[in-house]
Amino acid sequence: MKPSSLRFFLAAASFATLVAAWNTRSVASAANSGLPQWFRSDVYAELGKAPDKDKHRANPLENDPQAVAAGQILFQDRCSECHGEDAKGARKGPSLRAPEIQKATPGALFWVLTNGVVRRKMPSWSKLPEPQRWQLVRYLKSLGTD
Ligand code: HEC
Repeated sequence: MKPSSLRFFLAAASFATLVAAWNTRSVASAANSGLPQWFRSDVYAELGKAPDKDKHRANPLENDPQAVAAGQILFQDRCSECHGEDAKGARKGPSLRAPEIQKATPGALFWVLTNGVVRRKMPSWSKLPEPQRWQLVRYLKSLGTD
């Protein structure tokens, strides 16, 4: 090998090491800091933790024709800064147009809204009156997936 190609080889190898180190660092920090949460596979896991009695609570506004529209207004007001105007996710929060949301029971969604996932920067909405939380659940359920 000529000295010039050896130099090139060494430069390329150290560049590759740097890239590898950077990747390891960002993967580790995504797992530990909760950022960015859309890289984590367990981002909707909290929904599965709702206790049975909460999970099976029915939405008292299930047949209220105004509830979805009211929930949408609340969503724009309180949730869109993190989850995006269209709930497709944004810098601070994951998409809510996801199969995990459609599969969750209304009661499990209500439970998550009430308790939040505070350690992961999803606030608790227990101060919002219950009917408004149920309106938000109707809105989330109306979103479908894409
Ligand atoms: C300050 C930013 C922020 C706001 C405001 C916010 N969220 Fe979240 N939300 C998050 C983050 C971050 C997660 C992911 C939490 C996790 O990793 O489990 C999340 C997760 C969720 C989930 C999935 C539950 C799960 O298992 O994590 C639902 C449902 C949800 N948010 C609904 C809402 C609704 C409805 C509102 C408005 C009332 C709202 N969020 C407002 C940041 C936010």
